[in-house]
Amino acid sequence: MNTRRKLVVGNWKMHGSRKGNAELLEGIVAARPFGCDVAVCVPFPYLAETAVALAASDLRWGAQDCSAHEQGAYTGEVSAAMLHEFGCRYVIVGHSERRAYHGEGDQLVADKAKAALARGVTPIVCVGETLAQREAGETEAVVKRQLSAVIHTLAHCASEMVVAYEPVWAIGTGRTATPGQAQQVHALLRAQLLAATPHAPGMKILYGGSVKPDNARELFAQPDIDGGLIGGASLKAADFVAICRAADAT
Ligand code: 13P
Repeated sequence: MNTRRKLVVGNWKMHGSRKGNAELLEGIVAARPFGCDVAVCVPFPYLAETAVALAASDLRWGAQDCSAHEQGAYTGEVSAAMLHEFGCRYVIVGHSERRAYHGEGDQLVADKAKAALARGVTPIVCVGETLAQREAGETEAVVKRQLSAVIHTLAHCASEMVVAYEPVWAIGTGRTATPGQAQQVHALLRAQLLAATPHAPGMKILYGGSVKPDNARELFAQPDIDGGLIGGASLKAADFVAICRAADAT
């Protein structure tokens, strides 16, 4: 339990359709008010419609990636300025799926976070170890290295990011980190942030990886877990709303 306001973010990944999204967003809007901050990070083509659907609410929206560049000849990329223009409050950077399938390294992730902040979009910076790294006892070294690149690149703005701990072995596998395992890593990350900025006690560190309505409450009750980054369970309004309620209650 802590006094930071909880944040629950849905990461739709590459899911959705115009019709399905409308129903999903309607279901979330209808469940307001929430006692936590709630956002959805949607595929780029759906940003405009999401902005319209959520405009009259206190729900926020965002994207799942952005370019490290301001603008220019970068075919296929989307800039932070463009996200800002569509009202994005958040952008996920360094998700493990981008690190694994798109070869994104720590410095690129840090540069993306910096580009986002420069345009007033809050980066949700993901860190997390693979199963092999955990089994080799490398969890602490891996997450520290990933976070360290961002802290150094953002410098005095580091306190403006949101951090998400997402153990790769827990993503989409149904195998959640236990609350104790997650808390242990969150505490390490908090200590690392504390060494870098006096604002660390107020910063949000989200947990992601198979968060479901039935495990959310216990995870969110941990002292350094400030909410969740939700994949699969963010695609069904009832499940996502139940997770937001769990955040309300902790
Ligand atoms: P799942 O909730 O589907 O495990 O995904 C977690 C995730 O990757 C959120 O970014």
